[in-house]
Amino acid sequence: MDIKITLAGPEQRKPIPRDGNTLGFGRHFSDHFFLMDYAPERGWFDPRVEPYHKLSLDPATMVLHYGQQVFEGMKAYRGADGGVYLFRHRKNFERLNRSCRRLVIPELDIDVLEQGLRELIRVDQEWIPTSEGCALYIRPTVIATDPVLGVRPSDTYLFYIIAGPVGAYYPEGFNPISIYVSDKYVRAVSGGIGEAKTAGNYAASLAAQQEARKKGYSQVLWLDAKERSFVEEVGTMNIFFRINDELITSPLTGSILPGVTRDSVIQIARSWGVKVSERMLAVDEVFDAAQKGSLKEVFGAGTAAVIAPVKKFHYKDRDIQVGDGRSGELSQRLYKYILDLQYGRIEDPFGWRTRIL
Ligand code: COI
Repeated sequence: MDIKITLAGPEQRKPIPRDGNTLGFGRHFSDHFFLMDYAPERGWFDPRVEPYHKLSLDPATMVLHYGQQVFEGMKAYRGADGGVYLFRHRKNFERLNRSCRRLVIPELDIDVLEQGLRELIRVDQEWIPTSEGCALYIRPTVIATDPVLGVRPSDTYLFYIIAGPVGAYYPEGFNPISIYVSDKYVRAVSGGIGEAKTAGNYAASLAAQQEARKKGYSQVLWLDAKERSFVEEVGTMNIFFRINDELITSPLTGSILPGVTRDSVIQIARSWGVKVSERMLAVDEVFDAAQKGSLKEVFGAGTAAVIAPVKKFHYKDRDIQVGDGRSGELSQRLYKYILDLQYGRIEDPFGWRTRIL
């Protein structure tokens, strides 16, 4: 497919932030973005790269009222050899299409998405940070654009990819975070939209997140909505518990996000001979394990956060301390291995890395 490229003029270009320590997450965006439109009679059409600009939307635009949208999160890495790498990017695009199906949005051609992404990164390659642990975060998004207030799937859509340099997702960096277990709110129920990457799930998480923050915790751990007893996921990541030598994460029950980093952790840990179980884990079992001293480590896994060790949980007036409160041995090993894979510093036995420049 032909992609039309319009380059930003000098007056449209922004200074590129270079200090990896002050990048933060999701605050800077590169000079261009990739777009495509959808209309029923044309399918997805007019793929193009344009100078980054504001979108002009009718106040009645459907996405603004009923949240019919999906998105993805991925990264491009500046490798040790100066090359630019993507990591399992087609898996993110496949998930985007799964989310589209759930939200009744027309699916996209993954080859076109890949081509668009490559063009965008080629044009904005100067924006890929070189500091350790930093990357170009990529946010593909689809929004429903019919200017109509009836509740039904939109006929027209806009797809776009924005990108920008990021550092660590949490201000703690790789230092362990504290987590609040919500027994009041739930994020998603099986049969709902929990397994789709869509704005509504994040909107549903905000009240609990705000309460957790006020109490001094960085994130919320969600329990299953029915029994309120099994651990599911953390707001922006999947979660893993090491109890003795078993690494446990919630199965994909329909209410949690099928994370790409989650899948990578499972495959890597198994390749190292670690016993990995995708099974229901009651929060009581986590407490018991902590009391017996067998809760060795806990960490979150996600594209933005990579691996985020957890030092403490709070649940119904009780605190659980994880291990000795420092990041665990397996968390550290996984963190290093995943980054080494992503930045092209080691062999890639899984075939997950793609050099694009
Ligand atoms: C990601 O890890 O890329 C995500 O999309 C999580 C996010 C909402 C920050």
